[in-house]
Amino acid sequence: MSTHTSTPRKLSALDFNRMKKEKRKISMVTCYDFAYARVLADTEIDMLLVGDSCAMVMHGHPSTLLATPEMMATHTAAVSRGAPNKFLVTDMPFLSFRKGIAPALECVDLLMKAGAEALKIEGVRGHEETIRAIVESGVPVQGHLGLTPQSIHQMGGFKVQGRGAEQAQALLEDALTLERLGCFSVVLECVPSEIGRQISEKLTIPTIGIGAGPSTDGQVLVLQDMLGMNPDFQPKFLRHYFTGKSAVRDAVNRYHEDVLKERFPSASESYL
Ligand code: KIV
Repeated sequence: MSTHTSTPRKLSALDFNRMKKEKRKISMVTCYDFAYARVLADTEIDMLLVGDSCAMVMHGHPSTLLATPEMMATHTAAVSRGAPNKFLVTDMPFLSFRKGIAPALECVDLLMKAGAEALKIEGVRGHEETIRAIVESGVPVQGHLGLTPQSIHQMGGFKVQGRGAEQAQALLEDALTLERLGCFSVVLECVPSEIGRQISEKLTIPTIGIGAGPSTDGQVLVLQDMLGMNPDFQPKFLRHYFTGKSAVRDAVNRYHEDVLKERFPSASESYL
């Protein structure tokens, strides 16, 4: 009997299509830094996303509009070094794909050289040709519809999208356009479960939901949100898998107490 345990094969964009056909759900989580990437490298997670939410989560900005190509490239490079075994998607930041095809391809070049293996682009109307050019350059593109945080000011806040027949039909049409343009998957954010189900049924490419109900082909969450690092943030779609903030706070407070009470370092933690 062999005791050899084989390392799972690194997934590619094609695998996610196969998973949809096999009705095997897809798991995705955000990651922005080397330390967490090393932890995630040792998990079963299918796909990592260097989301432009890093502008908010890691830099404290009020929205994702403050993410820049350079910021995205820096985080992408760190995650790619920490989790080289995971399929890595990076967000094209605000306006980077709206200034024409050539400037968009400059950003694509920067992010792919930083270590991304696919790029996520919000919306579709008005930048169809740019998406097509990126796909034709050999880069897997993930669409993103529904609540698209780069349009937050136009949407009037973080609100559920696709309510009502007209909006739902527009979402379905956009999703079909993304499929036609060659996207390998589509993120659906904050849409009613029924819309998530209908779009997932109509597309041959996988849908990855966040607040889009149980019928999408996969799910994505922001890592720090699911770990409970910001327990005050409790949107309906979020499940906390850890009490991260209190766990870290309690550990740091125990260390602080140990320093004050001279319990740290002990003799065994000191050099002779
Ligand atoms: O930037 C991000 O974290 C995202 C996910 C919420 C899908 O786009």
